[in-house]
Amino acid sequence: MHKKIAIIGGGNLGTAIAEGLIKSGFTLPEHIIITKRNLSTLQSLEKQGVLISDDNVEALRFADLVILAIKPFQVDDLLSQLSSHFDERRHLLVSVVTGVSISHILNGVSRKLAVVRAMPNTAIAIQESMTCLAAHAVGSDETRYMEDLFSQLGKVAWIDEKLMDAATVLGACGTAFAMRYLRANIQGGIEIGFDAATATLIAAQTVKGAADLILKKGSHPEAEIDKVTTPRGCTIAGVNEMEHQGFSSSLIKGIVVSYNKIAKD
Ligand SMILES: NC(=O)c1ccc[n+]([C@@H]2O[C@H](COP(=O)([O-])OP(=O)(O)OC[C@H]3O[C@@H](n4cnc5c(N)ncnc54)[C@H](OP(=O)(O)O)[C@@H]3O)[C@@H](O)[C@H]2O)c1
Repeated sequence: MHKKIAIIGGGNLGTAIAEGLIKSGFTLPEHIIITKRNLSTLQSLEKQGVLISDDNVEALRFADLVILAIKPFQVDDLLSQLSSHFDERRHLLVSVVTGVSISHILNGVSRKLAVVRAMPNTAIAIQESMTCLAAHAVGSDETRYMEDLFSQLGKVAWIDEKLMDAATVLGACGTAFAMRYLRANIQGGIEIGFDAATATLIAAQTVKGAADLILKKGSHPEAEIDKVTTPRGCTIAGVNEMEHQGFSSSLIKGIVVSYNKIAKD
């Protein structure tokens, strides 16, 4: 399936999706149209051959797949302006908008569209996102197409839509949690003797390698910890001290607080 793609909302995420799809060769630049009101920030995509426009109706006429990448508060107005231009026999609508449910989107478009909700993270800019997907009325061809598309931009998991808030916390807020962990490692590394640049390289590559042991070898984290913790050694002493200070507990509590905040707001 070679669909033409409209990205409505060419901001951080919209442009990262366009860049990733072009870089991976998944879509030809001329098969993408990207819209926003101020077009000056889209010049680099335009130079690569992407169509740019401030006319969302033109984008819907052009595309089979419509990716909604605007802010949550902009969704209702936009969908009510565009609802009569959606064609349920042609369009597949994908929303990356945080916190807006599929049923809310269907109400907004007032027609029986196939809708996919996607929750990527900022690593989509380097095609290393974790993207969780939930779907409504989407056939098997479209399901495969969605999986192919987001696989160009990182890894994909299909989830029940009721887990979207949990996916937001673990997958999207998770980038901030991981960055704070990395930052703390770097600060510790500087205190024990490295300059900031070397500490950053060692900490980041070590965390990347640890993640890859799980992703590429299918290891269990605790089994990998056992391999590094020599009896009476320095690793177990450090790990246990971190746990005495509430390391795992503080991470779990942070995740639950973030989740409860989404649920409450
Ligand atoms: N950034 C992430 O990593 C991430 C991850 C997961 C989900 N999300 C969600 O993705 C959505 C986009 O996030 P973002 O970080 O890319 O926000 P952003 O940078 O503010 O991008 C939104 C873009 O929408 C454009 N826009 C606003 N109204 C429009 C309209 N009527 N027609 C066409 N374009 C319009 C804006 O440009 P103009 O003002 O020029 O029109 C802006 O560039 C948000 O809902 C966010 O919650 C983001």
